[in-house]
Amino acid sequence: MTVGILGAGQLGRMLALAGYPLGLDFLFLDKEAGTPAAQLAPSLVGSFTDPALLDELARRSSVVTVDWENVPLAALQHIEAHTRIAPPLAALATAQDRLHEKALFKALRIPTNAHAAVDSLAGLHAAIASIGLPGVLKTRRLGYDGKGQAVLRSPADIETAWDALGGQPLLYEQFVPFDYEVSLIGVRRPGGQFASYPLNRNLHRNGVLQLTRAPWKAPLIEAAARRHVKRVMDHFGYVGVLTIEFFVRRGQLIANEMAPRVHNSGHWTIEGAVTSQFENHLRAILDWPLGQTQAKGHSAMINLLGQMPDTASLLAQPGVFLHDYGKQPRPGRKLGHLTVTESTARQRDLRANALLRRIGSPTL
Ligand SMILES: Nc1ncnc2c1ncn2[C@@H]1O[C@H](COP(=O)(O)OP(=O)(O)OP(=O)(O)O)[C@@H](O)[C@H]1O
Ligand SMILES: [Mg+2]
Repeated sequence: MTVGILGAGQLGRMLALAGYPLGLDFLFLDKEAGTPAAQLAPSLVGSFTDPALLDELARRSSVVTVDWENVPLAALQHIEAHTRIAPPLAALATAQDRLHEKALFKALRIPTNAHAAVDSLAGLHAAIASIGLPGVLKTRRLGYDGKGQAVLRSPADIETAWDALGGQPLLYEQFVPFDYEVSLIGVRRPGGQFASYPLNRNLHRNGVLQLTRAPWKAPLIEAAARRHVKRVMDHFGYVGVLTIEFFVRRGQLIANEMAPRVHNSGHWTIEGAVTSQFENHLRAILDWPLGQTQAKGHSAMINLLGQMPDTASLLAQPGVFLHDYGKQPRPGRKLGHLTVTESTARQRDLRANALLRRIGSPTL
């Protein structure tokens, strides 16, 4: 049975790596050749809007899913006319636009920060007048790893932020002086069977995820996050894995954004949970029984950004799992990750710090 995947980055690669033991085949479609997934699975190369390529992907796949949530809606609709696609298009469309995402959180009574759509410099001034400073100006579409964002701390920042981002649909939102950040990953089958992974605590640097630690023991926060994720999934009749990122401030959750796909903060589940997020996404979209989501210990996942460190010295460390996505180095680019799993949270934090030091990143 073949699973078709739109986008052939590292998420697609890890989906394929999880699916081969289950006897699955994969077929990717991506704009570029030589992608992380194309290094291990057959891939079609060309535009996401090329009807012939979309037809071929649909014809050869029992079900189609995404490694990238920003595939144009028209392409997703084209696929849906020919074969099964998961997650549902409505969820993907919502996640493609930060304004729609925030509106969904509001409609489902999931707490989120104050925000306003901005389409002009006058609109930005109006948004700041009502929401205040500091705030963050973000592109509504196509942002990732903190790209397409500007933090505004004083009125002097307004012009600079507008010059950098103006001319496209924007969102201005309140800056949240959070205590820390978490994410929760849920998985849902067509009939509504739902499971969630333990809470992740995430550390971002310059808008990019650097470190995830899980399980993060905060039972009340985890229970609330789980309710929020389940509500979003039930709302869409969702199929597959979905993640919500939250800020935590004074013990309260504030939803930042959602990702209708497997998520960087869930990479630790490959070695650190009974069933990985990648395998469970496949099980869900194939309507197979979900695997258990329990953690097997205390894991830390560290992203390798910009350039690969000396891998031999990392592999010399006991219990380090290395994932190299096979990408060309570029400043800030996600090239791979490391996971360690320990028997206590304290031991995990010590290991995380030792690894961060070894790759030349600031420690916890
Ligand atoms: N309103 C905010 N207040 C405080 N910090 C923020 C705010 N918005 C974003 N950040 C910081 O920037 C990080 C990246 O922001 P966001 O999640 O919106 O971006 P993104 O580009 O979609 O990132 P990714 O796709 O990698 O998750 C957040 O995890 C947080 O650390
Ligand atoms: Mg984010």
